[in-house]
Amino acid sequence: MSLIHWSPAGDRVDSADQSERERSEEEKKAERLTRAERQALLVPDPEPGAQPPVQTGADRVVLRLQDVKKSYGSTKVLRGVSFDVHEHEVVALLGPSGSGKSTLMRCANLLEQVSDGQIWLNGQDITDPRANADEVRAQIGVVFQQFNLFPHMTVLKNLTLAAIKVHHWDKKKAQDRAMDLLARIKMDQKADSYPRRLSGGQQQRVAIARALMTSPKLLLLDEITSALDPMLVGEVLDMVTELKKQGTTILMATHEMSFAHDAADRVVLLRNGVIAQDGTPRQVMDESQDPATKEFFSHFRGF
Ligand SMILES: Nc1ncnc2c1ncn2[C@@H]1O[C@H](COP(=O)(O)OP(=O)(O)OP(=O)(O)O)[C@@H](O)[C@H]1O
Ligand SMILES: [Mg+2]
Repeated sequence: MSLIHWSPAGDRVDSADQSERERSEEEKKAERLTRAERQALLVPDPEPGAQPPVQTGADRVVLRLQDVKKSYGSTKVLRGVSFDVHEHEVVALLGPSGSGKSTLMRCANLLEQVSDGQIWLNGQDITDPRANADEVRAQIGVVFQQFNLFPHMTVLKNLTLAAIKVHHWDKKKAQDRAMDLLARIKMDQKADSYPRRLSGGQQQRVAIARALMTSPKLLLLDEITSALDPMLVGEVLDMVTELKKQGTTILMATHEMSFAHDAADRVVLLRNGVIAQDGTPRQVMDESQDPATKEFFSHFRGF
C-alpha cells in the first residue's frame, strides 16, 4: 500500500499552468503555498533501486527536551527529562502507566506549561513565554488516544476547522488540502460523513490526516491505538509505518511493544519521571541488563 504519493490531485495543480497568466497574483500565491506544502509532506515514492528519499537519524534536531520538569502540586511527574528527536526519526516513548508520557507530550504541544527546563522545536525555545502558541502548534500534529474528532462535524469540517479558524487559511485552500489527504488514505468518499458512521480505525486515520493538515514538522502520537478494537489496530499502525517511510518525524507514546520494537528508530523509556533508557529498540528492549528494564519488558511478549 502506498498511502502517500503524488496523486491525480497533484497533477491537477500542475496542469493548471497553462492558464497561469490569467490568474491573479493572490491565486498564484495560494497555489504555490499548496505545492510547497505538498512537497514538504509528500515525498514521491522512490524509483526501484534508488536510494530512499530520506536517511534515518539525520543530525538535525526537531525536538529537544532539556531538563524538563513538571509537577502538579506536590506531585513531581517529570523530574528532569532530556532527549532529542531528530529529523525523520521515529522515537517511541515507553513506560509504565503514570510515568508521565502524556504529560511530556502535552508539554511539547504547549497544552501544559513546564515547571522548569526548556523545550526547543526547530531551534526555537517554545517554553519561552514570548513563543506564540498557535504558531508552535501549527508545526506539531497531535493525535490522542480517543475523542479526537468533533462528533457534530463532518470529516471534512474536522480537517479544515483549525486550519481556517486558528491558522487563517482560506476555505478553499483548507478544503483542497483536506481532500488531498483524505484521498491518500482512501477516505475521500467519507468527507461528508459524521465520525459516528466510521469505524474506530477509520476515525483514528482521519485524526492522523487532520494532524497532517498544516504539514507539521513533528507528529506526536499518544496511545493512538489503545482505545481500538484489536481488529482495527493494524490499519492505524500501517498508516504510521507509511508516514515513517515518507520521513515524518514522530514521537509516539505506545503500549504496542511489538510495533515500537519494529517501527521505532529509538526507544526512550520513562520511569519515575526520569529517563531510564534511551537507545535503539534492540539495545533497550532486547539487550538491556538493567533489572527494572528487563522486568518492565517481561510483561510484554512477542516482540
Ligand atoms: N492535570 C493533572 N493534574 C494532576 N495530576 C496529573 C494531571 N495530569 C496527569 N497527572 C498525573 O501525572 C502522572 C503522569 O500521568 P500521565 O498521564 O502523563 O501518565 P502516562 O505515562 O501517560 O500514563 P498512561 O500510560 O496510563 O497513559 C499521573 O500520576 C497522573 O495522575
Ligand atoms: Mg498517557
